[in-house]
Amino acid sequence: MHQLIKATDFTREKLEKLFVLADKIEKNPKKYRNSLKGSVVATLFFEPSTRTRLSFESAILRLGGSLLSTENAGSNSSGIKGESIEDTMHMMAGYSDCVIMRHGSNDSAECAVKAQPNLPFINAGSGGKEHPTQAILDVYTLRQIKGKIEGLSVAIVGDLKYGRTCHSLIKMLSLYDNIEIWACPVRGLELPEEYVVFMKERGMKYFPVSSLSGLNPSVDAIYQTRIQRERVEDKSIDLNAFVINKKVMARFSENTLLLHPLPRVDEISTDIDGDKRAVYFKQAHYGIPTRMALLLSVMGKAKL
Ligand code: NCD
Repeated sequence: MHQLIKATDFTREKLEKLFVLADKIEKNPKKYRNSLKGSVVATLFFEPSTRTRLSFESAILRLGGSLLSTENAGSNSSGIKGESIEDTMHMMAGYSDCVIMRHGSNDSAECAVKAQPNLPFINAGSGGKEHPTQAILDVYTLRQIKGKIEGLSVAIVGDLKYGRTCHSLIKMLSLYDNIEIWACPVRGLELPEEYVVFMKERGMKYFPVSSLSGLNPSVDAIYQTRIQRERVEDKSIDLNAFVINKKVMARFSENTLLLHPLPRVDEISTDIDGDKRAVYFKQAHYGIPTRMALLLSVMGKAKL
């Protein structure tokens, strides 16, 4: 696999192999510190990012690679002059050995790899549609803490319409058997029908509810999300409809994990940061070994 566009680019076997490699990196990071020596990796972010860009850049540096980075490529690069993704990719093929790109358009990753089919490429978020590397670290987090993914029940909460992390998470979880997805969308930000159809086709169980109290209290994980204010057009949407705080978490089992792709705004109250079920910072840290493993794979240094 030298290009990652979407969550379903993975088979279950490939994903498991990636996780095993991430485990090895976690145990012995020094062993990999020269793996990308002599390689140049470009991070092109046309949309804001903290965790995804910095964890990728940290992963590149920890593997001994060199970095070519444009933060805010939409305003600091030729993107603002109207340069196409295709032309950008043609340039990057001469400047770098791998491109990691985030872009506001849903089909940006497809456009990029079409322009340069041989250049290693990683989609770091495309419009409201896909964020496959977030799904990798989300599923890895569940695997590390719960021990397995099969049979897990996950409640996705918040902006299920524009939340690309939820879309990629559903797709990646579909690689495992007996998954239950509970959905608690903010009114007006419901999960698009295509994902409901997808879950049905893949035999996943789906339980939509309209309030947090409708969720099964013994669900294995709650995946809270931020309202994607930058994509939401309807001004009547209640941005604070579902805030998860101590009181809300008291209703859930002591084994119900609370995840969030971050950044959080107000949708998780800081009063539960100390709760052992709140694993979002740990989840963000898992971005390092998983992204290191992915880089080794797309750049041909490890076979999945
Ligand atoms: C997410 C994204 O960019 O989609 N952030 C991230 O990469 N961890 C979630 C968000 O912005 O709300």
